Amino acid sequence: MDGPGLQADLKRLEEEGQAELDAAKGEGQVQAARTKYLGRKGLLTQFLREMGKVPPDQRPAIGRMANEIKANLEERAEKALEKERSRQKAEALLKEGVDFSLPGRKPQRGSRHLITQVTEEIVTIFERLGFEVSEGPEVELDYYNFEALNFPKDHPARDMQDTFYFSPNMVLRTHTSPVQVRVMESRKPPLRIIAPGKVYRHDSDPTHSPMFHQVEGFVVDREVTLADLKGTLEFFVHQLYGPGVQMRFRPSFFPFTEPSAEVDIQCVICRGEGCPVCKRSGWLEILGSGMIDPEVFRFVGYDPEVYSGYAFGLGVERIAMLRVGLNDIRLFYENNFQFLKQF
Ligand code: PHE
Repeated sequence: MDGPGLQADLKRLEEEGQAELDAAKGEGQVQAARTKYLGRKGLLTQFLREMGKVPPDQRPAIGRMANEIKANLEERAEKALEKERSRQKAEALLKEGVDFSLPGRKPQRGSRHLITQVTEEIVTIFERLGFEVSEGPEVELDYYNFEALNFPKDHPARDMQDTFYFSPNMVLRTHTSPVQVRVMESRKPPLRIIAPGKVYRHDSDPTHSPMFHQVEGFVVDREVTLADLKGTLEFFVHQLYGPGVQMRFRPSFFPFTEPSAEVDIQCVICRGEGCPVCKRSGWLEILGSGMIDPEVFRFVGYDPEVYSGYAFGLGVERIAMLRVGLNDIRLFYENNFQFLKQF
């Protein structure tokens, strides 16, 4: 036997094998063709068994070629079987009545939730003023949520913010104000922080949800005054609602600010004329605020003689509801696509 003749034989074997595998119909024929060439008594196997007859100097080249052909045919057989199996699967599905010509279900394109959009808008306004974003945990220690904010244990001020208790000293936070304490405790003034997040209260009706969103802001430095608070909030309100919108401070009480004020804006629905949304007053309350109480500074180890600061907290849902004219807060949490895709 001579080399070129053997190579031609091998090549022919390969071509015939390929043609037979390609033409095979059904699993049986594929298996038969595979056995014919690659089985224990197959043509290629026999060929390899007779390598002894090949002159020694040609054995490596012929051997390599035969092995390559073997691998090729194996792969082809495997592919043919795979194709056959998926054809069988498709046939079975067709029998069950699956219609492959039906168009697929398109995933619906989502958008950012209105609450996320409004939160980001608020945060961005304060970032432009040099505020830095910080966040705190939603499961919070009583110490940060109440104690260090000057709500003593059993004090009636806690009644306004009843919440869910994990244990006697761990709650779902009722406001974002604990972030004030956490940041002050770990850093030194000057601080300008904006802290968005989820908060929880024992409250549920068309305008109150047991879970809602707040944005807290606070500044601590030397010589921070009520005028700074007022100027900053006025800037904020004008950015959010336009420069013409009026704003007013109303005296209020929070255990962790002194003095405290609630901030109202001119009703965005009736422009101050009086309507059902503002209960005929012409004003809408949008946030709570005040100068940080010296008692809070003592809890975090700041000297109230050296530092002063202001803080405010606003409810995101309320702002979002006023923006789009919504009267039921629960729509935000129902994941109704028809509702959400409007924004
Ligand atoms: N944490 C208060 C609340 O949720 C709001 C507030 C924040 C008031 C900061 C004053 C200063 O009711």
